[in-house]
Amino acid sequence: MASANSPLAGRHVLLGITGSIAAYKAAMLCRLLKTAGADVQVVMTPLAKQFITPLTMATLSKHPILVEFFDPENGAWNSHVSLGEWADCMLIAPATANTLAKMATGVADNLLLTTYLSARCPVAVAPAMDLDMYAHAATQQNLRTLASRGVRIIEPGEGELASGLSGKGRMAEPETIAAFVGGLFDKRQTLAGKRMIVTAGATIEAIDPVRFISNHSSGKMGYAIAGELAARGAAVTLISGRTALPTPEGVERVDVLSAAEMYETTVAAFDRADGAVMCAAVADYTPSEVSETKLKKGDGELTITLRRTRDIAAELGARKGNRVLVGFALETHDEEANAESKLERKHFDFIVLNSLRDAGAGFRGDTNKVTFIDRAGHEELPLLSKREVAARIADRIEKIMNRSATAAQAAASGEPGQ
Ligand code: C5P
Repeated sequence: MASANSPLAGRHVLLGITGSIAAYKAAMLCRLLKTAGADVQVVMTPLAKQFITPLTMATLSKHPILVEFFDPENGAWNSHVSLGEWADCMLIAPATANTLAKMATGVADNLLLTTYLSARCPVAVAPAMDLDMYAHAATQQNLRTLASRGVRIIEPGEGELASGLSGKGRMAEPETIAAFVGGLFDKRQTLAGKRMIVTAGATIEAIDPVRFISNHSSGKMGYAIAGELAARGAAVTLISGRTALPTPEGVERVDVLSAAEMYETTVAAFDRADGAVMCAAVADYTPSEVSETKLKKGDGELTITLRRTRDIAAELGARKGNRVLVGFALETHDEEANAESKLERKHFDFIVLNSLRDAGAGFRGDTNKVTFIDRAGHEELPLLSKREVAARIADRIEKIMNRSATAAQAAASGEPGQ
């Protein structure tokens, strides 16, 4: 029975199926979406019909299957525009390397692709292919292109593949995909009324009017966090160093350059905030003097004297009160011990540790592998998209806020809190 509380209840899901052996899982996926209350229409590429019959999908979805631009029997036109308008979400599962490449380059040679190009709704893809095709630079580039345009990628799993080989490329399981799509609609405003600050990106420390000292931070993790907190209803101020990223929807962005500027802006905003996530890569040192004119090269060595910058997170930690404060740590050695000492020193509620040693973690990518560390222990997460990591961080922030609200209520009513 469909639950009225299901985020998929009454939603229109356009399920695109492409020509992969994993298409057999689309039958189960369709059933799961229907059971969760979604209305599902299926659009298949011509090749997909070789892998699963339109009859199966029509029976499960209770709609005729759409493959061609028009019905060869009666000439009825299948409008990609009206399909795109009907859909609240387009889900392509399985998505082959071929379809992903066409989506990335705007090729529109079948109904599924024309519908994708005209769809205004959120689009999610569940890639399915052999491990080498998945790992190929072309496929990875296409996935990055699609992700940068807002397409949600449902990571394939590792395991046995139809080729007999084993590796990454297995389409995610139908339950995972259905839950992911449900999550797209699950816009609970759990942080409504909360003011949050997020710092992100790299600071820039001027040496002279032309040169500066900075670092490799892309800002992606912090921007994902700001977007996630805003999607949950928080009023988010994103204090951003240098990045090349668009401002996430619903977020107020303040651009700063130096560590000193980020310090002033963040400390000033903290008074009115309910919490802050310190994701920026702030310079620890800045040139003691900034030359007003461009430094000229000479024959010998050049020495630039650096002085310490102020630690923004530590300052907020000292004024924390009952606000939530989340820090990041990027370590190359003694990761956990260093992160634990930062947790204490800066009074973080928890710290998100990423190690440069882990493949897929770090600066420029769209994935991250992190461990949450708080006073109760460590939680190591698998390799996830930065968006998923942002959602896990927001979940934790919510929990901490709920816990302090319950404790405050208990104190007010004279009952012992937890
Ligand atoms: O001590 P370390 O720089 O490794 O600490 C990292 C954490 O502290 C991050 O959350 C970072 O955003 C924050 N930080 C800060 N101001 C600084 C240095 C670090 O807010 N000047």
